[in-house]
Amino acid sequence: RRHTRFKCDWSSDVCSSDLLLGRRYMAAQSFSSPQGKFMAKERTFSIIKPDATRRNLTGAINAKIEGAGLRIVAQRRVKWKQADAKKFYAVHKARPFYKDLVKFMTSGPIVIQVLEGENAVAKYRQVMGATNPANAEAGTIRKEFAESIKANSVHGSDSPENAKKEIKMCFKAKDRKSTRLNSSHT
Ligand code: CMP
Repeated sequence: RRHTRFKCDWSSDVCSSDLLLGRRYMAAQSFSSPQGKFMAKERTFSIIKPDATRRNLTGAINAKIEGAGLRIVAQRRVKWKQADAKKFYAVHKARPFYKDLVKFMTSGPIVIQVLEGENAVAKYRQVMGATNPANAEAGTIRKEFAESIKANSVHGSDSPENAKKEIKMCFKAKDRKSTRLNSSHT
């Protein structure tokens, strides 16, 4: 069986850190599917939001994530300051809900995560369900746990490119040092 070596296209800052890759080439970034083929792994960024941490739902949400075959490879509970939330959601600056969103995201602790697996970005969006819980499918995190379109329990990156940006924005050097990937788990 041939292993494909992928050149890492992450920013050099992240690539050279201990955190999420550990090494520049992603030989360890492939894994065996049930069919025995080697599949490319992907990472996505996740936030368990204040409405969920307030109701003690971190474990229940993590069970959904893991149940879907995604691996939580980095996780940290933090409380965002206004500047953190403003920066993270800057893309929504012009939206009428921006100010309220920033207020909500700083109203309590959040859990920031890096999830890994085949098609992690799309898979996590499926597991989360639609932004508005009223439109979310049965069994999704938002259908089961979200309170409203704003307090919708989780965030997940909308593309692999944004996942890389969000991971880099939210996991700083300190976290990167303490979060070593153990490829023997895969
Ligand atoms: P998220 O996936 O984190 O991306 C942007 C967030 O803005 C979204 O989840 C919701 O928390 C919030 N949001 C999106 N649309 C609305 C809305 N119409 N009113 C209030 N908040 C919203």
